[in-house]
Parts: sequence; structure tokens; C-alpha cells
Amino acid sequence: MSVRRLAAEQPDSFTFSKETMDEARWWIAKYPPERKQSAVIPIMWVVQKQEGWVSEPAIQEIAKLLEMPPIRVLEVATFYTMFQLHPVGKHHLQVCGTTPCILRGSEELKAVCKRRIGPAHTVTADGLFSWEEMECMGACVNAPIVAIHDYYYEDLSPHAFEAIMDKL
Ligand code: FES
Repeated sequence: MSVRRLAAEQPDSFTFSKETMDEARWWIAKYPPERKQSAVIPIMWVVQKQEGWVSEPAIQEIAKLLEMPPIRVLEVATFYTMFQLHPVGKHHLQVCGTTPCILRGSEELKAVCKRRIGPAHTVTADGLFSWEEMECMGACVNAPIVAIHDYYYEDLSPHAFEAIMDKL
């Protein structure tokens, strides 16, 4: 696992888009007013959909929206690996590196990423790709797994994985 810290370089500010704010308010409405902080995870998720990652200014704005201390939002952001704390490529590939996936060839998939993209957590010069290793993503039955956007790609061979990258 990588150390989960905020990126050293941060944008000056974050602004909710209209669509993101509409969705955030939809999530807030699901909870009693005094419990609106419970919406922190789905709101952080839609913020990440807007920006590609979760910046420190975004954490501050989420905290303001939910009337909770920024440190509580930061705790959530740094705990869950689904939240990206650094800018990622347009297509961020999450390669499972836990035992069942290793036994079924995920090391070869990581080798493809290193060859075509570079070291984990770097973004290609064209901004298209980045990748990271993940712990078990709960789909071991069809190992090895790579998650891309909202989808799992399963039973991957290096050849099949490269074909997906070519399409992207
Ligand atoms: Fe890869 Fe479980 S070990 S999905």
C-alpha cells in the first residue's frame, strides 16, 4: 500500500459544478438535517468524478457544505483508497496486487503498466493514463482484476489488458 498523503502541489481553490452540487444536495437530502455529515463519502465521490481527484481545497469546501471540521473530511479522504489524493490520468488503472490475483498473473499486468505508463502514480505526458496497485477488490474468483473507472475487467491476460489500453 502507498502512503496516503495529500499532494504537495494543490490548486488555489475548488468550486462545485452545478451538476456536482445538485448531486451533493440529493445525497444530503437522504439524511436528517442534523446528520448531513453522513453524506461525506458519496459527496467526495462526486467531487472526484468532477475533478478526477480530491484536492485540499475540495476537502475544505466539502467540510463547509456539510458543516463539519475539515479534519473529519480529511480522515475519510486518506482512509479510503477509492479516493485519489493526487492528480491522475484520464484513465486511471487500478491493478489488484493481492495473492489470488498475483497467482493468476497480476505481476504481468503490472509489468505492462510499467512499460506503457511508467512507475505507479505517474501520469503519462499526454495526460491519458496513470495506474496504481490495489489491495483485494473482492473479485478474486475472476482474478486477475483491473478496475478502470466504474468497471472491473476480469480474467485478464497481458494481451487482453493491452487491447483494452489500446482502445482507451
Ligand atoms: Fe484480486 Fe481479490 S485478490 S480481487
